Formats: sequence, structure tokens, C-alpha cells
Amino acid sequence: MEKSANTQYPISSLLAKRWSPRSFNNKKEISQEVINSLFEASRWSASASNIQPWQFIYGLRGDHTFKTITDSLVEFNQLWAPEASMLFVVLGNELTPNGQHNSSYQYDCGAAVASLTFEATERGLFVHQMAGFSPEAISKSFHLPENIKPLVVVAVGYLDESEKLHPNLIDMEKATRIRKEISEFIFNK
Ligand SMILES: Cc1cc2nc3c(=O)[nH]c(=O)nc-3n(C[C@H](O)[C@H](O)[C@H](O)COP(=O)(O)O)c2cc1C
Repeated sequence: MEKSANTQYPISSLLAKRWSPRSFNNKKEISQEVINSLFEASRWSASASNIQPWQFIYGLRGDHTFKTITDSLVEFNQLWAPEASMLFVVLGNELTPNGQHNSSYQYDCGAAVASLTFEATERGLFVHQMAGFSPEAISKSFHLPENIKPLVVVAVGYLDESEKLHPNLIDMEKATRIRKEISEFIFNK
């Protein structure tokens, strides 16, 4: 299904092509080579003082880590995310190397995921981020130290037909993508 952005002004085709599907092909796998490139893309993201506060724990469909991540998802996300080829948790280190609070760690982690997302899009993959998960469950399962915060779970995979989704999700998958007008968030004075 094609859900490219209906833009007011021209943008890169990579940005226009990206959207967050829920119907993933549960037969296809992502090669290790591609997985390496996705995380390499995140590696070159900008960050405050080049601290690079992001960490990722990834699981591939069928493995134990994938199951642990799936179990942390809210019921709604469990309806579709287990079909993805890869799930990963984005972790942010809230402390600087000197042990101070890093006020931009969440911002930097989001930027790293954005880089990964566009690399994925370039490779014909789709990415769907989720805040609907239990950070406590992730911290417990992976024995995370106090300063490492689970921020988001991300599903990655190849697109499948919307009709394959749980009936409650089909309309959402086909819905027109809507956005604010540019004038609502851009100011010049
Ligand atoms: C931080 C974040 C959390 C999100 N959490 C969820 C979620 O828990 N479940 C879900 O189905 N979609 C989730 N989404 C997807 C958004 O609903 C989606 O990005 C938004 O509707 C815009 O659609 P688009 O990405 O297709 O342009 C999340 C997106 C972001 C960036």
C-alpha cells in the first residue's frame, strides 16, 4: 500500500515515502548486513557534546529477545508488532560521562532513530515506533542500571497487505495521513 506524504512543497522522496505501517510481512527476514547498516546509520547521528547517549537491544522474530520485547508491549501493540522482522528497544543514558544529568539525551536518541529510519526506508523497510510498552518490564528483563532508560520500542520489517491485520486495525492502516498546516508551527516573529 502506498501512503506517501501528500506534501505542500517538494521534499526528498525518502522522507515522503516513510510512514508507520502495522502490517508487516511475517515471512521475511532482515539480513544481518542490512541490520548492520541500520545501526551504522544511527551511529553517525549528531548528539550534544558527541555523547551518543543511545543504546539498542534488538531481537529477531522467533528469538528469545524478540519475545521478551513483545511481552513488554501494551495489548494494542501486541496485535500487530509480533509480525515484524525485528523489534528493538531504544535505551537512553541519562547521565553524561561525568555523571551529570544529560538534558538532551532523549532528543539525541530520537535523532538517532530518525537516521536509522531513513536508512531503513532507503532499503525498502518500514519502521514503526511505539511508546506503548512497559519500561519497567524492559528494565527488569534486561537488568538495566538506573541511569539507562527504556524510551521506545521500534518495529522494523517489510510491508504486507492491510487486509492481513486484525480487523480492528484495518481502517487505521488505510486512513489518510493528516498533518498540521505549516503555518501552525512555523513562526517568523
Ligand atoms: C514516540 C512515538 C510513539 C509511538 N507510539 C505508538 C504506539 O505505541 N503504537 C502505535 O501503533 N503507534 C505508535 N506511534 C506511531 C504514530 O502513531 C505515528 O507515527 C503517527 O500517527 C504518524 O503516522 P506516520 O508515522 O505514518 O506518519 C508512535 C510514534 C512515535 C514517534
